[in-house]
Amino acid sequence: MKLSHSLAVLIIAWFAVIGRIQAVTLEVNEGNSTCIKAELSASFSITYNTSNSTRTAQFSLPDSATVDTGSSSCGTDNSSPWLVALFGPGHTLGLSFSTNGSLYNVANLTLQYNLSDTSIFPDANSSDVVTVVSSSVGIWATINTTYRCVSPTTFSVGGATVTFSDMRLEAYMPGNDLSPTESVCTADKGSPTAPPTTASTTTTPAPPPTPPGTPERGTYSVNNSNGTVCLLARMGLQLNFSYFSLSQNKTVQELVNLSPNETSVSGSCEASSASLVLIQEQTTTLNLTFTLNSTSNKYRLSAITLLANWSDMTVPFRASNDSLDYLRSTLGRSYMCNAEQTLTVVPTFSLNTFRVQVQPFEVTTNQFATAEECQMDQTQMLIPIIVGAALAGLVLIVLIAYLIGRKRSHAGYQTI
Ligand SMILES: *[C@@H]1O[C@H](CO)[C@@H](O)[C@H](O)[C@H]1NC(C)=O
Ligand SMILES: *[C@@H]1O[C@H](CO)[C@@H](O)[C@H](O)[C@H]1NC(C)=O
Ligand SMILES: *[C@@H]1O[C@H](CO)[C@@H](O)[C@H](O)[C@H]1NC(C)=O
Ligand SMILES: *[C@@H]1O[C@H](CO)[C@@H](O)[C@H](O)[C@H]1NC(C)=O
Ligand SMILES: *[C@@H]1O[C@H](CO)[C@@H](O)[C@H](O)[C@H]1NC(C)=O
Ligand SMILES: *[C@@H]1O[C@H](CO)[C@@H](O)[C@H](O)[C@H]1NC(C)=O
Ligand SMILES: *[C@@H]1O[C@H](CO)[C@@H](O)[C@H](O)[C@H]1NC(C)=O
Ligand SMILES: *[C@@H]1O[C@H](CO)[C@@H](O)[C@H](O)[C@H]1NC(C)=O
Ligand SMILES: *[C@@H]1O[C@H](CO)[C@@H](O)[C@H](O)[C@H]1NC(C)=O
Ligand SMILES: *[C@@H]1O[C@H](CO)[C@@H](O)[C@H](O)[C@H]1NC(C)=O
Ligand SMILES: *[C@@H]1O[C@H](CO)[C@@H](O)[C@H](O)[C@H]1NC(C)=O
Ligand SMILES: *[C@@H]1O[C@H](CO)[C@@H](O)[C@H](O)[C@H]1NC(C)=O
Repeated sequence: MKLSHSLAVLIIAWFAVIGRIQAVTLEVNEGNSTCIKAELSASFSITYNTSNSTRTAQFSLPDSATVDTGSSSCGTDNSSPWLVALFGPGHTLGLSFSTNGSLYNVANLTLQYNLSDTSIFPDANSSDVVTVVSSSVGIWATINTTYRCVSPTTFSVGGATVTFSDMRLEAYMPGNDLSPTESVCTADKGSPTAPPTTASTTTTPAPPPTPPGTPERGTYSVNNSNGTVCLLARMGLQLNFSYFSLSQNKTVQELVNLSPNETSVSGSCEASSASLVLIQEQTTTLNLTFTLNSTSNKYRLSAITLLANWSDMTVPFRASNDSLDYLRSTLGRSYMCNAEQTLTVVPTFSLNTFRVQVQPFEVTTNQFATAEECQMDQTQMLIPIIVGAALAGLVLIVLIAYLIGRKRSHAGYQTI
């Protein structure tokens, strides 16, 4: 192999306009010429095992990321160009490219992470270096143009997700700088700042269509490390939040139902807190945390976090509140509410629940314990009783009026 790469790394770090995610510049060189150049911000979401539960680590590609000169290459006849960014102790992000002469694409996206890094993966029960690969990521561009995608786009790689934003990259470069002509991803189309485009590229994901109606009821459970169910929930969920829509160029209010069959479930159970994490199509993450007050033996839904990262958004939507007090019940019981409830999290986000039954603690034999029903259901049960009582009262009044009337007319006869 007559490849002698002298690889230079230029790192430009600045705070992204919003979000404070660092952008990193990475270059792969061969001789004096650059073949791959990428400017991007990336953030990762990785689920890993602790000794007694699973956890999700969320972190960004640091500005100290460098090109791994050992693995990166401009490609040969039998190997593809490969950009490998190295960060921290043994974490890497790799992009491998291929071309057919008129288009080039990211052929595979590789993420390698080192579970021994306790700063990112505290309490991981393994010290393995895990490698996950995703092919056909859908990053395409015309050759001799720069692929541009400022909008955040999320890719799932194994059990992890990688979200790129502020991305500009080019492979098979004709010069040493990014080509001035750009291939703009669909997510950026319609953006007010979008310059003229040369070729269209496709990226995932499209924002969920505006469906609603009542959401389907899903059954979700979280397992302990020993495989026993520790949190059990059955409910329909609907998100109600507002964000700035790129395609409509205005703030829109969106109602989104969670579809149980498109939702992946994870979570954790600890002695006094339990959480349920629902991820819909890698773009929408809802985290519900229950806490137990062991003095009063009552539990409640104490924290709700929503992270939505749709291509129609300028920045990912994040909303979180950890001092909530919803779905209260007693330890050893489940909480039930058939009536629709609106759980306000922040002014721009509320969660609507439908036909909820949940038990975050002391689940035995995979079944709900006796339910404590919410006030609203009890009130709703009262309605027929009240209506019945009112009707009975009405009948009584009519009867009394009739009797009085009859007595009066009787008296009338006597005066004649
Ligand atoms: C790279 O550039 C240096 C100086 O700019 C030049 O001396 C050298 O010959 C070049 N190498 C190649 C392989 O072009
Ligand atoms: C966590 O443990 C489960 C069960 O042993 C295993 O199937 C899964 O692959 C592990 N997850 C990770 C991220 O290591
Ligand atoms: C991903 O691309 C790299 C570089 O081309 C290659 O070494 C690796 O085998 C590829 N992995 C998969 C699963 O295709
Ligand atoms: C993983 O991290 C540990 C601790 O930081 C380090 O000793 C080890 O060399 C790392 N593994 C790799 C492959 O870099
Ligand atoms: C490259 O692939 C694209 C999309 O599949 C196709 O439209 C184009 O004709 C191909 N170009 C060549 C030279 O094969
Ligand atoms: C790309 O640019 C190089 C150098 O300018 C040129 O030789 C090549 O033909 C161009 N390729 C295409 C497909 O336009
Ligand atoms: C978006 O709306 C603003 C103000 O309403 C307007 O100035 C701007 O031109 C609009 N942009 C697009 C791309 O429609
Ligand atoms: C780590 O925990 C998972 C479940 O949480 C378990 O399946 C796995 O065997 C554990 N691995 C080690 C190395 O202890
Ligand atoms: C599983 O683990 C939980 C707590 O981690 C414990 O309460 C329970 O008894 C265990 N069940 C079995 C079958 O070992
Ligand atoms: C999920 O269920 C809905 C309605 O039941 C159906 O329309 C949709 O195709 C399903 N999606 C998947 C991925 O199975
Ligand atoms: C799970 O493990 C962590 C650390 O190893 C410990 O602090 C916690 O109490 C454990 N939780 C349960 C429910 O055993
Ligand atoms: C737990 O409940 C007791 C009794 O209702 C209350 O005094 C205490 O403040 C609660 N503790 C927490 C942490 O909420």
